[in-house]
Amino acid sequence: MKVLTVRTQEPYEIHIGGGILTDLPEDLPRVLESRDLALVSDDTVRELIAEDLRRLLSEAGFRAEIFSFPPGEASKRMETVVELARAMVRAGFDRKSAVLAVGGGVTGDLAGFLASIYLRGVPYIQVPTTLLAQVDSSVGGKTGVDLPEGKNLLGTFYQPRRVYIDYGVLSTLPGEHFRNGLAEVVKYGASLSADLFSFLEREAERLFLYEPEVLEHVIYESCRLKAEVVSRDEREAGLRRVLNFGHTVGHALEAALNYELLHGMAVSVGMVAAARLSEALGVAEEPVAERVEALLSRLKLPTRLPSGVSPERVLAFLSADKKVWKGRLTMVLLRRIGEFVFYQDPSRKVILEVLEELCA
Ligand SMILES: NC(=O)c1ccc[n+]([C@@H]2O[C@H](COP(=O)([O-])OP(=O)(O)OC[C@H]3O[C@@H](n4cnc5c(N)ncnc54)[C@H](O)[C@@H]3O)[C@@H](O)[C@H]2O)c1
Ligand SMILES: [Zn+2]
Repeated sequence: MKVLTVRTQEPYEIHIGGGILTDLPEDLPRVLESRDLALVSDDTVRELIAEDLRRLLSEAGFRAEIFSFPPGEASKRMETVVELARAMVRAGFDRKSAVLAVGGGVTGDLAGFLASIYLRGVPYIQVPTTLLAQVDSSVGGKTGVDLPEGKNLLGTFYQPRRVYIDYGVLSTLPGEHFRNGLAEVVKYGASLSADLFSFLEREAERLFLYEPEVLEHVIYESCRLKAEVVSRDEREAGLRRVLNFGHTVGHALEAALNYELLHGMAVSVGMVAAARLSEALGVAEEPVAERVEALLSRLKLPTRLPSGVSPERVLAFLSADKKVWKGRLTMVLLRRIGEFVFYQDPSRKVILEVLEELCA
C-alpha cells in the first residue's frame, strides 16, 4: 500500500492499494470519532461494492447504512442532495455521523457536497470506484451539483478526512470508463511529468491487463501531481488552472455535443488540439503533438473531432467557456512533454486551422 499526504489547510492522507477496502473497519477510527456511517452510492455501485462494504463495517460494530440514487450525471443535482439528506435525518443520523462516498465522481461530488452542508457539516471519507474518481475527482476537495443552467454551479470546497483508493474495484468498471480516467492520467503526464508520460508509453499494454504495480504507480503519480498543484492553490486562484490541459477545447466539444461524449474522450481530442497548437504557435521547444497523439491512440482514446461537429461550432463554444474571463482566454500549452505554459488569447485563426486538421 502507498500513502500520500495532501497538504491542504487540513492535511489528509490518500491510501492506495489493491484490496485495501478490507482495512476500513480497523483504519476508520483513526480519522473518525463517529461509528455512525452513511454510505452514499449510486444503485450500480451499491450492488457491486457498497453492500459488501456495509456488511464488513456492520460486522465490525459500526452502524452503517446505504443511501443510494440512480447512476449517472442526471442525479448530480440539488434534488438528490435533499432526498439523501431527508433519508439520513429520518434514519437518525445526527451531528456525530460521517458520510462515506462510495462510487465514481458523481457520487463523490454529491456526497461531499451533502457532507459539507448536512447539519452544517459532518466529516466525510472518499472511496472512489472509477478510475476518473481515483485519479482526479477524489483529490482537491471540490464538491458540487449541476443546475439546469450548467454543470457544477453549486458547490463547496470541503476536504475529506481520508481517501481510500482500492484499484481492485476497477475490475468491474466498463472499459470506456477505464479509458475515460486514462485521459486525465495522460493530462498529468503531458503537462506536469515527463516520467509519468514515458511510463505510460512503456507500460500501455500492462495497464490494460490491470497489472497491480502498473495501476498503483499510475494512480499514485496522478494523485501526487494533482495534490501538489492543489496544495499550492487550494481555492483555484491560478496554478490550479494547469489541470485544464486539454480541457479548453475538451469542454467546448462536450458542450457542442450536448454532453453526450464522455468527458475523458473530449479531453483526449482537446489534448491533441492543445499539443498541435503549442507547435503552431511556436511555444513548443520540441515536437510534442506526435507523442501525445501516439500515446492516446495506444490507450484507445480518440484523437480526432467526432463526425457531426464542425470546427466552427467548437470554436463558438470555446468563446462561451467559463475560463474566458473578461474576454481573455487562457490555454494550457506545452513547452515540452511534462512542462506546461499558460498562453493568453491564442489566435482564433490558428485554433480553427488546428481544429480543421482534426476532422478525420
Ligand atoms: N470534484 C472534482 O474535482 C471533479 C473532477 C473531475 C470530475 N468530477 C466530476 O466527476 C463526475 C464524473 O465522474 P465518473 O466518470 O466517475 O462518473 P460516475 O460517477 O457517473 O461513474 C460512471 C459510471 O460507472 C459506474 N461505476 C462506478 N464505479 C464502478 C465500478 N467499480 N464498477 C462498475 N461500474 C462502476 C457508475 O455507476 C456510473 O454508471 C462528473 O460529474 C464530474 O463533474 C469532479
Ligand atoms: Zn477532466
